[in-house]
Amino acid sequence: MTIKKIGILTGGGDCPGLNSVIYGIMLKAYDADIECVGILKGWKGFMENLTIPLNIAEHDDLHTIGGTILYTSRTNPFKGAISKEHVAHILVDKLEELEIDALIAIGGDDTLSVADAMHKYARANVIGCPKTIDNDLAGTHYTFGFWSAVQLASNAMDNLTTTARSHQRVFVVEIMGRDAGFLTMYSGLSAGADIILIPETPFDFEKDIVEVLRNRVNAGYKYHIIATSEGAYPRNESLLRDFKTISKDTIDKLPKDTYGNPLLAKLNISKIIVDELTLRKDLKSEFQKNGIDFECRSVVLGHTMRAGTPNSFDRILGLRFGLAAMKLVLEGKFGNMVSLQGNKIKTMPLSEGVKKKYITAENDKMELRDLLVKIRYLSKQK
Ligand code: F6P
Repeated sequence: MTIKKIGILTGGGDCPGLNSVIYGIMLKAYDADIECVGILKGWKGFMENLTIPLNIAEHDDLHTIGGTILYTSRTNPFKGAISKEHVAHILVDKLEELEIDALIAIGGDDTLSVADAMHKYARANVIGCPKTIDNDLAGTHYTFGFWSAVQLASNAMDNLTTTARSHQRVFVVEIMGRDAGFLTMYSGLSAGADIILIPETPFDFEKDIVEVLRNRVNAGYKYHIIATSEGAYPRNESLLRDFKTISKDTIDKLPKDTYGNPLLAKLNISKIIVDELTLRKDLKSEFQKNGIDFECRSVVLGHTMRAGTPNSFDRILGLRFGLAAMKLVLEGKFGNMVSLQGNKIKTMPLSEGVKKKYITAENDKMELRDLLVKIRYLSKQK
């Protein structure tokens, strides 16, 4: 089949570097004499025929601009579907109706799972491009947007140290990443956070927070930065033993994701940690013994982490992903997605690439975190 016109859509949370991918696709498409159509608002716009022409002459330096000019949504046409095959054929008919010969979907696991199902059940001409600031997609070493978000969070924590130092306070900084802790781990290490909490290693409030703060204040530290993922949560035994402001019931009553797991990101864990710390009279007297008022504050970085322009790494990764995705279209290698392996752009089946990725126990960042937290106070005690 000769490809004359392609569609591009962006789905899921926005991310610095989306426009860079779109521009990379457009550069190669123009060179290959292929028309590009933008599908607005992800799969929602695809179902509702919301399209715009994409004329490269009108988009100079698009790769430098944050967000997505195509808008985005979290619509998943397969949600609640009884027959995936049926939905896949409806979506393929849609491609024909829009006179689009192939589609490049840019998104996270949810958006790409739609492209995967379209190919699996209806052999649709689809290519995927992995996106999420969370970096939790198995198919690629890094997603674009991740390093821009890490830098923003790291800068925020660097900046917070001045006010933390002036007031001699404990700051609990909540960082995006509902399922995986990559953003918190990398930005926490980068900024030298004093405690780093991630979903992959549920924390013990007494051991991982109270005891560390006690050791730090006795070693002479006067302010403290705790970096926590929005999806970090306490171990069961700690929840039962240490917590006064929440219980297991609080977690059980949270709204659930599509797999039935509680949406821990809705907990506002930084506020809970601050509330629990504030109740700890023992810790307060430990601080006062060292001449410090015990004051704790929480800061939720939230969407500031997805905001602004992509950094150079993400601009270039986005352009490379876009170029590679367009090449896959030209080669007719549908059902695949582009990925970064080491420094090389590779191809992998969508079905493999959309799986989730987490920080594993053997990851050297885990060891670095544990050393960073304890060696500082231990070395001062000697
Ligand atoms: O998936 C990326 C992400 O940024 C998560 O880290 C965060 O939990 C979520 O999106 C927030 O999504 P929304 O913009 O829909 O609130």
